[in-house]
Amino acid sequence: MKHMIVAGNWKMHTTAAEAAALAAEVVTLVGKQGGTAPTADVVICPPFTSLDAVVAVTADTSVHVGAQDCHHEHHGAFTGDVSASMIRAVGCSHVIVGHSERRRYHHETDTLIASKVLAALAEGLVPIVCVGETLDEREANITTQVITTQLETILQIVGAERMQQCIVAYEPVWAIGTGRAATAEQAQEVHATIAALLAKAGVHVPILYGGSVTAENAATLFAGADVYGALVGGASLKADAFAAIVAAAGAQMQ
Ligand code: PGA
Repeated sequence: MKHMIVAGNWKMHTTAAEAAALAAEVVTLVGKQGGTAPTADVVICPPFTSLDAVVAVTADTSVHVGAQDCHHEHHGAFTGDVSASMIRAVGCSHVIVGHSERRRYHHETDTLIASKVLAALAEGLVPIVCVGETLDEREANITTQVITTQLETILQIVGAERMQQCIVAYEPVWAIGTGRAATAEQAQEVHATIAALLAKAGVHVPILYGGSVTAENAATLFAGADVYGALVGGASLKADAFAAIVAAAGAQMQ
């Protein structure tokens, strides 16, 4: 049986009040699922300014809360940044690192991302480590090469033992926010590559797919042998769509 995880990345959406309302809806809908059947782990990742409110709403529920990024240092003169220890202190259990929007708009490198992973782990947070190729890279047939370089660089710095504490997310950049998800075959192919690469180092972690996951395509994507859930952007902002994706993940666990 696969243990499935569905994480919602709310990106730069929701004020604290809106986030609390959305989180309450997610708690209600996800909480109704399952009964005695196993359900997927659920993580929601609102903006920093909404973390406190969402932690309050989800306290004593099965819904976990994560941040969307963290700084690699614990404190210091880093205007505008937020450390892993601050994220932990507010009550989060997870943090997304290396999202393609951070790589693109904040010029984050694999080396920097690895140091964020270490900072997160030092605080007991579970890093959700994102990798993925651009459209140009896929069309140039270098997807495997790109993913391998990203993961090997991170793995070398983080080390296999610590990497084992992470979740990996495969997010093809061309599929993010475009409505053009990878096909189940495309996703599974890269997930298998990632799983094999990590297995060589003795690392066996859940690998989530991200990029235009919807209530409609989730079940097909989740059928892939190495697909252990999803990192969901747009569809995670609608509680019913997100809950349907969580249900599709749960169905893989029965
Ligand atoms: P999307 O975003 O589901 O809106 O494509 C996914 C992500 O960026 O994590």
